[in-house]
Amino acid sequence: MSMRLPFFNHKKTKVKVNEASDFDNMPGHVAIIMDGNGRWAKKRGLPRIAGHKAGMDVVKQVTKTAANCHVETLTLYAFSTENWRRPKSEVDYLLGLPKEFLHTYLPELMGNNVRIETIGNLNVLPAHTKEAVAYAKEKTKDNDGLLLNFALNYGSRFEIIQAIRQIVTDVDNSRVTLDKLDEDVFSEYLYTTGLSDPDLLIRTSGEQRLSNFLLWQSAYSEFWFTDVLWPDFTEDMFRQALHDYQQRKRRYGGI
Ligand code: FPP
Repeated sequence: MSMRLPFFNHKKTKVKVNEASDFDNMPGHVAIIMDGNGRWAKKRGLPRIAGHKAGMDVVKQVTKTAANCHVETLTLYAFSTENWRRPKSEVDYLLGLPKEFLHTYLPELMGNNVRIETIGNLNVLPAHTKEAVAYAKEKTKDNDGLLLNFALNYGSRFEIIQAIRQIVTDVDNSRVTLDKLDEDVFSEYLYTTGLSDPDLLIRTSGEQRLSNFLLWQSAYSEFWFTDVLWPDFTEDMFRQALHDYQQRKRRYGGI
């Protein structure tokens, strides 16, 4: 039996990761719904944006751990198409975070060989957000380590609708025929084209729903939930989630 990834244990004794076999059955693609920033701030009598700020530092830590654990793709739900319903001051703050994050951590991301990508409708985002993201994508485009994929102004239903619109256009223009349309072809019309589906989907803060995140792509994902609020999510907890995934038996409808 191969060794498994060292996992969080309550005695707080951490086992060192030094065997290639520790990474057997590691999820290639991990997606995270980073929830609970607002509640974290409220518990401390702080404004909600303080929770988002604390959450940003957790993003940095989780990215580093994912890279160290040989995860290939990490997709983070940073801003949903529904988040526009929040007060303008919070929306503005959230849309400033990619710039702040990249400004602070880009050198470290480069050092860790991380490539930045996004999914979602960037067109309507403020110029400073688009510019920061475009700069980071360009700067990291030749890195071949972890792919850090931010879901920004992302909504799964919108993604599916825009895929259907494009397919109809392509059928009209004879670029694709309906009899050729299968699951693989449909997937190519989604923002996630070229990416594998998430193997593991994590949601923090005790909520157990998808909230319009990767609905098509998570058809066979393994889910992992914790009551811990995102700003309190630690490296050990992330390693625990990866370790738990390593024990799962995926059957994809078979036996
Ligand atoms: C959900 O918590 C979280 C968000 C809508 C934003 C996620 C953003 C971060 C974690 C910051 C990092 C972002 C980047 C781009 C580096 P919530 O506000 O809904 O929390 P609540 O349910 O407790 O109110």
